[in-house]
Amino acid sequence: MLRSFLLYLSERQALKNLLSRYALGRRLAGRFIAGEEPEDAVRAVRRLTGEGFAVTLDYLGESVHETRHAEQARDVYLGILDRLEAEGIQSHISVKLTQLGLEIDEALACRNLRAICERAARRRSFVRIDMESSAHTDATLRVFRAAQAPPEVLGIVIQAYLYRSETDISELLGCGARIRLCKGAYKEPPEVAFPRKADVDANFVMLMEKLLASGHYHAIATHDSKMVAATLEFARARGIGADRFEFQMLFGIGRRMQRDLLRKGYRVRIYVPYGKQWYSYFMRRLAERPANLLFLLKNLVRG
Ligand code: FDA
Repeated sequence: MLRSFLLYLSERQALKNLLSRYALGRRLAGRFIAGEEPEDAVRAVRRLTGEGFAVTLDYLGESVHETRHAEQARDVYLGILDRLEAEGIQSHISVKLTQLGLEIDEALACRNLRAICERAARRRSFVRIDMESSAHTDATLRVFRAAQAPPEVLGIVIQAYLYRSETDISELLGCGARIRLCKGAYKEPPEVAFPRKADVDANFVMLMEKLLASGHYHAIATHDSKMVAATLEFARARGIGADRFEFQMLFGIGRRMQRDLLRKGYRVRIYVPYGKQWYSYFMRRLAERPANLLFLLKNLVRG
């Protein structure tokens, strides 16, 4: 109920304008984002890689409705890839296709994605397409395929809460795709997604096993200790080495687990978002854990 309300708010322009305008909003969002400027992102990548983590950078933004904004986002990503190389630091990047123009024209999003993949290949980086709401799943998969980038350069995300995901994974594995498995963060109707957490979790475990058993390199993205334990147990039982997959977690969430896994010799990649368009991302993080609202209210009271 609260989750649905927060996800509803995540799409409301008026609240976005209100929160984004004030320093307080930025301070609250600061728990989940590296900052608003490229320097903040570079600093976070340097710190995290110094601690032994791998990173994927996300330049925040989604649902753009003007071609020039989609092209600006593409150029920001090209600049990030150049900057990472110039600074001598390693990071993957994560992109949202609606930020690259998917809602304007699939061909535009595909052109922008290709340009980013070409630069990433030159810079020995990797591009992950984040998965957005189910309204975009088909188009996202079409653009992923149309980009025709090799699996070492481009990967995709699959959400365990969608009924369709088992079929999507089977098709994607057929072409050697590298997949990030997550639970799914959007407001979805019961016609397309499991409404109950227990079913999402069971599907996550089933899909995780399918991915790990495939022999391709995938990412298990979760802060859920039960999902992490199930992954470790499956890998151990099947003799799948720690170098054959990676865990991924969001910046500022599950920090103890991040460090524990790293200490045990697993690769842990931190998803680091930065930029001024943090509102929707921030609201989705609140929706995932209602206790975060308490943290928000405490900060509001302190002013
Ligand atoms: P679950 O929600 O069951 O949480 C398990 C535990 O983790 C909680 O009890 C709490 O302790 C902690 N936790 C989880 N979320 C928290 C939060 N916001 N604040 C504080 N603690 C929290 N989704 C999507 O739809 N498309 C995508 O492309 C991606 N990409 C992505 C990348 C990476 C690296 C991660 C880790 C996640 C995503 N997601 C995503 C988000 C994902 O779908 C999901 O919403 C969150 O990861 C929360 O689900 P958990 O697996 O953590 O489990």
